[in-house]
Amino acid sequence: MNDILYIKNADQIVTSTGHSETPAKKEAMRQLQIIENGCLLVENGIILAVGDDQSIRQTYTQHLNCAKIIDAKGKIVTPGLIDPHTHLIYAGSREKEYVMRLEGKSYMDIMKAGGGIHATTRATQTADFQTLYEETKRRLDTLLLYGVTTVEIKSGYGLTLEQELKQLEVIAELQKSHPMDIAATFMGAHAIPERHKEQPDRYVDEITEEMLPVVAERKLAEFNDVFCEKGVFTPEQSRRILEAGKTYGLIPKIHADEIEPYGGAELAAQIEAISADHLLKASDQGIQALAKTNTICVLLPGTAFFLMADFADARKMIDAGVAVALSTDSNPGSSPTLSLPFMMNLGCLKMGMTPEETINAATINAAHAIGRAKTVGSIEPGKQADFVIFNVPNYLFLSYHYGMNHVDTVIKRGKIVVE
Ligand code: NIG
Ligand code: FE
Repeated sequence: MNDILYIKNADQIVTSTGHSETPAKKEAMRQLQIIENGCLLVENGIILAVGDDQSIRQTYTQHLNCAKIIDAKGKIVTPGLIDPHTHLIYAGSREKEYVMRLEGKSYMDIMKAGGGIHATTRATQTADFQTLYEETKRRLDTLLLYGVTTVEIKSGYGLTLEQELKQLEVIAELQKSHPMDIAATFMGAHAIPERHKEQPDRYVDEITEEMLPVVAERKLAEFNDVFCEKGVFTPEQSRRILEAGKTYGLIPKIHADEIEPYGGAELAAQIEAISADHLLKASDQGIQALAKTNTICVLLPGTAFFLMADFADARKMIDAGVAVALSTDSNPGSSPTLSLPFMMNLGCLKMGMTPEETINAATINAAHAIGRAKTVGSIEPGKQADFVIFNVPNYLFLSYHYGMNHVDTVIKRGKIVVE
C-alpha cells in the first residue's frame, strides 16, 4: 500500500523552480513561483504533482481516494528550510563571555585568552557520547519546530583525532535516528589547540596527515572546513588543509573574512570551495572572484547581530552575481540561535535582501551549499517531499512579522514530523 499525502487549498505554494542544477543568482534570486490555492500530491515521500485541485484530481483520482489530506486554507507552503552552516554538537554554554562582550571585550580577545572556541572545546571533550547525542538531538528537534528539514553540522570542538571522531560519530548516529537530513563536515581546523600554540604548522600537519585520512576512510564527513582568520589559520595553511581534504574526497568549505579581510573569499574562489561562509569583511576583489564561480556565499547575519559587528553586504554580493544562502551558524559563542526564519528577517532588514531573495537563500541556494539541490530545496515533482506549512496569509509575513514562530506543520519525506 502506497503512502499518499495530499495538501490542498494552500493560499500560496511558494518555491523556486528550475535551479536544481545551478544556483539562483541575480534576477533568479528574486524570482519565486507562487501557486495560489495550491495543492500538492506526495507518494512514498516523493513529490508527485504540484498545481490546482481540479487538474490533480483528474489525473490522480485513484491516489486521492486513499490519500491522507491536509487542508492548508489560510496558510502557505514552502520547501523545508535548509540550514547549511551549524556547529550544533557541543557541550556547555558561554553566557559569561556574552556579558564580557557586552562590557566591551572582543570575541577574538576572549578566544586568545583561552575562552571562546577553546572553552567549548574543553566542555565538549569531557562530555560523553550520550550527553552530546541527547543535547544535539534536542537542538535538532528545535530546528525542526522552526521549519528546518535539512541541516549541515560541523565537528570542531574536539581538536584531537579521537575527540573529532567522537563528534562525527554523534552526527552519524543522529543521521540514522533523527528525521532531519544531516550533512556532516569535518572542522578539525576550527582553532589552534593549546599544544600547538607555538608551532601552528604542526597542527596543520596533524590535520592533513593524521586526521583527514581517518575521517575520509571511515566516511564520517562529506565536507572539510577551515576557520581562515587572522590569529587562527592563515590563507596558506587553509589552502593546505582544504587541498589535502580534496585528495581524500572531502569537499572544501571555508569560514572566510569574518572578523578581518584576509583573502578568504579569494581563496574560496581559487580552490572552488562549495561554499564560502561569513564574508562580513570580504574584499571587492574577493566578491568579484566568487561571482565568477558557483561557490555559494553562505551569510550568517545572526553572528553579526550577536557579535555586534557590521553585517555582510548581501545586496552588493547579489548584484555582483554571487549566489547567496542564509544560515544560523548556530553555536554557543557567536550565534546561539536555532531560528533560520529570524535570519531571513535580518537578511531583509540588515543586509539589503528582498523577502523573495531570503526564501531562495534559505531553500534552493542553501541546498546547493551542501550539495543537496537535486533532491531538496524546492517543490518540484520528483524531489523529496519536505515542506513547511506556515500559518501566515502570504510569504511576505515570514520576514515581516518577526521574532515569532509561524510554523504550523512540518513534513519530512512525506511524513508529518511537527504539527
Ligand atoms: O562560525 N568562526 C568560527 N566559528 C564559529 C564560532 C564558534 C564559537 O565561537 O564557538 C563561527 O562563528
Ligand atoms: Fe561557523
